[in-house]
Amino acid sequence: MTDVIGYERIGDIAVLAAQNPPVNALGHAVRQGLVDGIARAEADGAKAVLIYGEGTTFFAGADIREFGQTPKEPHLPDVCNAIEASPLIVVSALHGTALGGGMEIALSTHYRIAVPKARMGLPEVNLGLIPGATGTQRLPRLIGVEKAIDIVTSGRQLGAKDLLDMGVIDRIADGAPREIGLAYAQELLEANAPRRAVSEMPAPAPIDFDAAYEATLKKGRGLLAPAYGVRAVQAACELPFAEGVARERALFRELMETDQRQGMIHAFFSERQVSKLPELKGVDPRPLNSIGVIGGGTMGAGIATAALLAGLPVVMIEMTPEAAAAAKDRIAGNLQGAVKRGRIDQAKFETLTEKALTPSNDYADLKDVDLVVEAVFEDMGVKKEVFGKLDAVCKPGAILASNTSYLDVDEIAASTSRPADVIGLHFFSPAHVMKLLEVVVADKTAIDVTATGFELGKRLGKVSVRAGVCDGFIGNRILSKYRTAADHMILDGASPYDIDKALVDFGFAMGPFAVGDLSGLDIGYMTRKRLAPHRDPRERVSTYADKLVEDGHKGQKTGMGYYDYSAGNRATVPNPQVMELIEAERAERGITPKTFSEDEIVRRYMAAMVNEGARVVGEGIAKRPLDVDMVFLFGYGFPRYRGGPMKWADMVGLAELLADIKSYAKDDDFFWQPAPLLEQLVAEGRTFDDLNKDAA
Ligand code: 3HC
Ligand code: NAI
Repeated sequence: MTDVIGYERIGDIAVLAAQNPPVNALGHAVRQGLVDGIARAEADGAKAVLIYGEGTTFFAGADIREFGQTPKEPHLPDVCNAIEASPLIVVSALHGTALGGGMEIALSTHYRIAVPKARMGLPEVNLGLIPGATGTQRLPRLIGVEKAIDIVTSGRQLGAKDLLDMGVIDRIADGAPREIGLAYAQELLEANAPRRAVSEMPAPAPIDFDAAYEATLKKGRGLLAPAYGVRAVQAACELPFAEGVARERALFRELMETDQRQGMIHAFFSERQVSKLPELKGVDPRPLNSIGVIGGGTMGAGIATAALLAGLPVVMIEMTPEAAAAAKDRIAGNLQGAVKRGRIDQAKFETLTEKALTPSNDYADLKDVDLVVEAVFEDMGVKKEVFGKLDAVCKPGAILASNTSYLDVDEIAASTSRPADVIGLHFFSPAHVMKLLEVVVADKTAIDVTATGFELGKRLGKVSVRAGVCDGFIGNRILSKYRTAADHMILDGASPYDIDKALVDFGFAMGPFAVGDLSGLDIGYMTRKRLAPHRDPRERVSTYADKLVEDGHKGQKTGMGYYDYSAGNRATVPNPQVMELIEAERAERGITPKTFSEDEIVRRYMAAMVNEGARVVGEGIAKRPLDVDMVFLFGYGFPRYRGGPMKWADMVGLAELLADIKSYAKDDDFFWQPAPLLEQLVAEGRTFDDLNKDAA
């Protein structure tokens, strides 16, 4: 008997209490404890067994940290089967989240009771897996194939009420799981209730599994696990229970060996680790009860929306009363979206727009706010002027933040009398939707100001990543490199449409040129103009993109960019002028275009991304490779199942990637200079993940 599963006899009932904080994950000791507990109850003359979790939850699933190691007996499917096979009445009492293996344990017990707030689900697809402990075999027997496929392939969680309606649980009761479970088990014993085994229920009726498989594969945009889930459920219809379990296990094991599983689990842990910085341990954030936003354009309105939805009152400053009113309309438009999606009701909408939001053109209205985010035009002169005004009106200790995309936060800070209170808070568009927040720590930023940046991110539901000051911080700095690699490929023969297709096939939500159209081609244009005076003469710079913008084609907002949007906002129809401009430029430079395969496009694009990622880590702009990965997952539509660019590079092999870079350098040794950190890791035979571990 292990102490992670407590054993106690209460009358005829043996109580097995999971005590494995924080989430009662089903690691080896817990599995062994459950098997031993059932055997002991049987030997002990008990008539029923109650299984529940101490702490905040029932079992939240298998212990993910054990994945990738040699599995130790007893395996989870055997634990589930041992529970169900017991001649005693086995009851589970659920609270918190019974997820994955936790739900599978519950399905193996004979009766299930839950507190009203309990939730259940099979989230294995979010880890690149399928349920591997009989869930795909028991659930369809209990609720039918269609509902089971929905739960297995979506990974979504269901509340107690839905679970009761579907027949997944038998009863909902208020109270502590131990008490409601004991009362229920006692009642079942008194009623002489039969032992009920889901595995003994008849096989469910089949559906067109091939069609379901194809539809799921397409919806997964490259993620294999959900489609595997369909095949596992199919086995529940077509095979006897034990063979179905074996088929499920085989599919589970196959997925366990994939890069997708590694990528998804890297994402799971990195998402939790990214905002845990050693230097912030024990540092209290400053009070954060209200914020100011300067500039109510695209970004300012989005930031204000996010803050209002998180319960923070907002003072919105614009240049004129008319502009302030327009900003309010923009925010109201965003909030209407939240009403439509059922996130807030109309009464809440009225409160947020009429009470919690104060539109104004008077900076003096900022005198009481705890933090200000500036989101005015991307121009150092304008920013400095705004920060000068903030310095004059904001109370001592108020945090002054800039949402600048590229500008030097140290320089902005130096224009105030309180640089320790200045920080960059770089949101992504649309700011009330995108999950990423770069917290840009300047030279003089005080540590509790950084802590407050992270606190704001948490309150707004963002994934916050620490970044240092440089042109473009983590994300946009790396973006400018791989966009340049894409531009070079275009000069040499690829089309923007070839590149977009290759990257969508790689798993990106959109290709880079379609993204450019969405955010506005004038942004890149202005950045190129700003950087032009500092350019090295050896740099290869294309001009077709500038001509496109100068002709008035700025992307979706003008109806034309790389794509033609006259029929709607989907980037499907190429703008014919683009290839004309590109071909003219190639002819002018005397370039004979060559063909790029999809694979070559991806390799070059990714090599540029990873190489700059390695520089960013090497220079300390990002503290760890996982910080770069999280920026790309949450801000740039990088496919989650690849874990992020640095994790992808580890899986491809850093030596191979470095060899690619060196081979590209034969044609352009100015652009393709290997990052020192990449060379060092290859020389030492180490990976980016080793650096993550060093920093943990
Ligand atoms: N295994 C190992 N560690 C886990 C874990 C798990 N299944 N679930 C959570 N943890 C860890 C987290 O990494 C975190 O550790 P840290 O404090 O060192 O960072 C800690 O537990 C707390 O987790 P959260 O910060 O996420 O806490 P929340 O309260 O916000 O969320 C939760 C709790 C809803 C349970 C969430 O952690 C979660 O979704 N966990 C994953 C659940 C899951 O995917 N289960 C399926 C596993 S696969 C499986 O069961 C296969 C089977 O079919 C064979
Ligand atoms: P925008 O042009 O949509 O909005 C800027 C707003 O600031 C305008 O409404 C303008 O009236 C107002 N403004 C200008 N000067 C002001 C002043 N002195 N006082 C008060 N209001 C003033 O610009 P956008 O796109 O919202 O960008 C704002 C900032 O956010 C820029 O620094 C930009 O680089 C950054 N950013 C932009 C992203 C994007 O995708 N658009 C993404 C992340 C950051």
